[in-house]
Amino acid sequence: MPPGRTDSHPGPVCAASGRGRFAAVPACSEARPPLPPLPYRTPPAWAAAMVDHVPALLVDQAHLEKKAAAAAVAFLFRVPGGAAAQRALSRLAREELVHFERTLRLLSARGVAFVPQPPTPYAERLKAGIGRTMPQRLADELLVAAVIEARSCERMALLGAALRGVDAEVAAFYAELCAAEARHEGLYAALAADLLPPEQLVARWQALGAHEAAVLAGLPPAPRLHAGTGDGG
Ligand SMILES: [Fe+2]
Ligand SMILES: [Fe+2]
Repeated sequence: MPPGRTDSHPGPVCAASGRGRFAAVPACSEARPPLPPLPYRTPPAWAAAMVDHVPALLVDQAHLEKKAAAAAVAFLFRVPGGAAAQRALSRLAREELVHFERTLRLLSARGVAFVPQPPTPYAERLKAGIGRTMPQRLADELLVAAVIEARSCERMALLGAALRGVDAEVAAFYAELCAAEARHEGLYAALAADLLPPEQLVARWQALGAHEAAVLAGLPPAPRLHAGTGDGG
């Protein structure tokens, strides 16, 4: 972990973040401004309870990756800045689509249908914490995207560990995705840092993190990456 960085994720996640198909997306250690960990921490027991639900989790994952790609493309049209920011967002969007296609391949290989699925209220409820006026509104939206990537990464790391020895293929898949999502968190946080002074950035991150903890506490447990855990988060 680089000096000055406080992170809720285990060290190996960021250590591995330079790998992957689109390694040119900035690694979190290069791009992420120093932000405190998210206040809620998912217990490993959550992942242990998920090991019997791999098909449902993979269907959820495919939908999440498709939505993540769409969100990145939408930011391409809204985030100010030069070619570097545009290139990084474009690569992020492509990487999410690669994740989507890889998840579809896993589903197909396992004979699991990619069925429609109602979204969990997680992302929609996170948006309720977003400010109303610019530029804080856009910065908040980028920070919410960073929160979602951070939570995804945290839970993928837990799933990767819980599935090791149970389903090695999916365990490795989650571990690899996790490294990419950690980089995405870094990019979104860095883009938000271009819009707000450092103290305000940290304050908004903390406010949105507290809001995220309350959102998770209000969601029931389910075999979804962004569900409640039944322990108050
Ligand atoms: Fe992804
Ligand atoms: Fe991502």
